[in-house]
Amino acid sequence: MSVVTINGYQVNYEVTGDGPPLLLIHGFPLDHSIWTKTAALLRDDFQMIMPDLPGFGSSVVLPEDGSMTGYCKQLLGLMDVLKIEKAFLAGHSMGGYIALQFLALYPERVAGLALVGSQVYADADENRAKRQVQIEDLKKNGISAVLGMAERLTANQFASTELRALIHQQSAEGAIFALQAMSGRADQLELVRRTDKTVLILHGDADDLVPLSKAQSVKQSAPGVELVILEGVGHSPMIEDPSGLANGLLKLK
Ligand code: MLT
Repeated sequence: MSVVTINGYQVNYEVTGDGPPLLLIHGFPLDHSIWTKTAALLRDDFQMIMPDLPGFGSSVVLPEDGSMTGYCKQLLGLMDVLKIEKAFLAGHSMGGYIALQFLALYPERVAGLALVGSQVYADADENRAKRQVQIEDLKKNGISAVLGMAERLTANQFASTELRALIHQQSAEGAIFALQAMSGRADQLELVRRTDKTVLILHGDADDLVPLSKAQSVKQSAPGVELVILEGVGHSPMIEDPSGLANGLLKLK
């Protein structure tokens, strides 16, 4: 892992591979290590930058209310430090929400975008209320409040044990920041319809957390988007089907 200080806060990240830059943005409540298997398969295709988002893994949480923009500023800073003018972005679930906001803020820095088990829509009110309950639970009980998510993050029981251990290593503060950020995120359907960048949606048909129907409805309203369906795969293709995901990501180039 490498470490840099961006806007005063430490960000840890890993870089591997050769080729055009691809920023791999992890989901909630995970860290960069979720990408390890996929990155190993793409070593000859991309230079992959895998940060721990602020508040996850070894990166410091930001001292403010959670927002997608907060994450994006740190990612932009990381690209600047690494002298990367333009990158492909691939975001898993929450990472996809961040990638979309990054495209909205800094389109000139984006070569193309892949949403993995993610969606373009904002939270409905009832989701926001659920997130608020989770925030209170995290404040009271620490990260164990969200350990139960492991089962929903994958359709594979073995993988859910792996994910449980990974979630256990995360901080409650980082998870709270993320829940606030997800709760306040904008709807990005128009952005995806209007953009001239490649937008790729990679989605498992057994995703229990973000149903495939959400990806299919984007494809209907934004026909320029490419939808790749990963069969028998749940919410986390990077551990359930790394080679299917790696092959899909090659379509970015
Ligand atoms: C994720 O997997 O990153 C999040 O659970 C997505 C969400 O809660 O909307």
